[in-house]
Amino acid sequence: MKKIMTILAIIVLIAAGGYFSWQYYKDAQEQLWEEKSELAAKTLKPIKESFKSTLMQGMQKGVVEAVNYCNLEASGITENLPQGVEVGRTSHKVRNPQNKPDPLLEGPLNYYLELAKDEQQGRPQITQLPDDSWLYVEPIYAQPMCLACHGKNINPAVKATIDAKYPKDEATGFEDGDFRGMFWMKFKEDFGESQI
Ligand code: HEC
Repeated sequence: MKKIMTILAIIVLIAAGGYFSWQYYKDAQEQLWEEKSELAAKTLKPIKESFKSTLMQGMQKGVVEAVNYCNLEASGITENLPQGVEVGRTSHKVRNPQNKPDPLLEGPLNYYLELAKDEQQGRPQITQLPDDSWLYVEPIYAQPMCLACHGKNINPAVKATIDAKYPKDEATGFEDGDFRGMFWMKFKEDFGESQI
């Protein structure tokens, strides 16, 4: 009897040990994801701001002129990215075919589309890729000013300018608040280590 009790006690201890170390691993993992997500959001913020202000400056010159300003290159953002960081935008309905999602981006894109079916807006997501680098995504929702070029009633002169440059344009017909696409950011495992 005593022997059985001892064996049982050992089994319980091993199981509890396993549970607690799994719990510890999970907490550490969640903390790492949170840190990486914060780092990504912090890095992306000024990029989004400078993109938006470039677009607004373009809009002040007129919508036709601004057609050249709704891309990341216009504000020089893509040339000045920190080492080991890549940034882009993608969508289920692209204007520029170069922004089409690669297979990796289709997962989060479909996730936000599913939420949008229930009229829900999603939060940023982060995941670690097989090569240990990180992929961070943030959904983009249409605002009233976007509709001048992505809405249902686009001014004919604007439409003509867009069509001339983007004959395969799919990015029209959006309404205020619609899911428009997402920003994505890929970064190396060691990016920002000194900042964390
Ligand atoms: C003046 C016209 C104009 C306005 C206003 C505008 N866009 Fe665009 N948008 C474009 C053009 C042109 C492109 C293609 C850019 C390129 O060549 O990469 C584009 C591309 C995009 C893309 C990349 C995916 C794709 O379709 O190729 C997203 C996402 C996007 N716009 C979102 C927005 C949002 C959100 C707003 C409002 C904050 C907005 N746009 C306002 C003209 C505009």
